[in-house]
Amino acid sequence: MFSHLLPDSWDLDQILDDLNTQGFAIINQAYSNQYRAQVAKECSHHLEEFREAGIQNGVVSNIRSDHILWINEQFPIAQQHIETLTSFSQNLNQAFYLGIKEVEAHFAHYNLGEFYALHRDNPQQKNDRIISTVYYLHPEWQENWGGQLRLQDKNEKWHIVTPESNRLVIFQSNLLHEVLPSKQQRLSITAWLRSGNSIWV
Ligand code: OGA
Ligand code: MN
Repeated sequence: MFSHLLPDSWDLDQILDDLNTQGFAIINQAYSNQYRAQVAKECSHHLEEFREAGIQNGVVSNIRSDHILWINEQFPIAQQHIETLTSFSQNLNQAFYLGIKEVEAHFAHYNLGEFYALHRDNPQQKNDRIISTVYYLHPEWQENWGGQLRLQDKNEKWHIVTPESNRLVIFQSNLLHEVLPSKQQRLSITAWLRSGNSIWV
């Protein structure tokens, strides 16, 4: 299958096959390194505006210690990634009838020692997130810097994914996963592909 709207590095057949058999897929060098650097710059210019991800509506949770900033029209470069994911959602809808209608995304910044403990992005289907994606913006990552994504696939096998620069990880939002403590500045965009039928309870 070929889609002219996706970057050349995206092997759509392989991605769909991996999602089908394992519930997750990895795309290395997802974009040009020039794009990666531009979006990292856009993110870095706004680091002071990031807020503690563990605090929502004044309620403090210790499940995560990173900082986030939601992406809106003020971030035209990051928006290009959201547009690519919107095209990709159409491919997913055609292949798996997922009914994805929306993409929402935030930047995430993990400083020294920061983490996100074991969780699902869609606990008990209490929100409308179907697919989660994480794109790593930092210019390099070394094995001993920690910060790995640890993910249980749909066959309950665990995987450790290094947050390689310019790597995109795509997984079912109901899968268990965590971010191990990071020893370096770790920059990413988390984006969720959603059905648009929120059923908050
Ligand atoms: C998340 C998340 C994983 C990662 O933002 O919900 O689990 O590798 N991120 O950053
Ligand atoms: Mn998550």
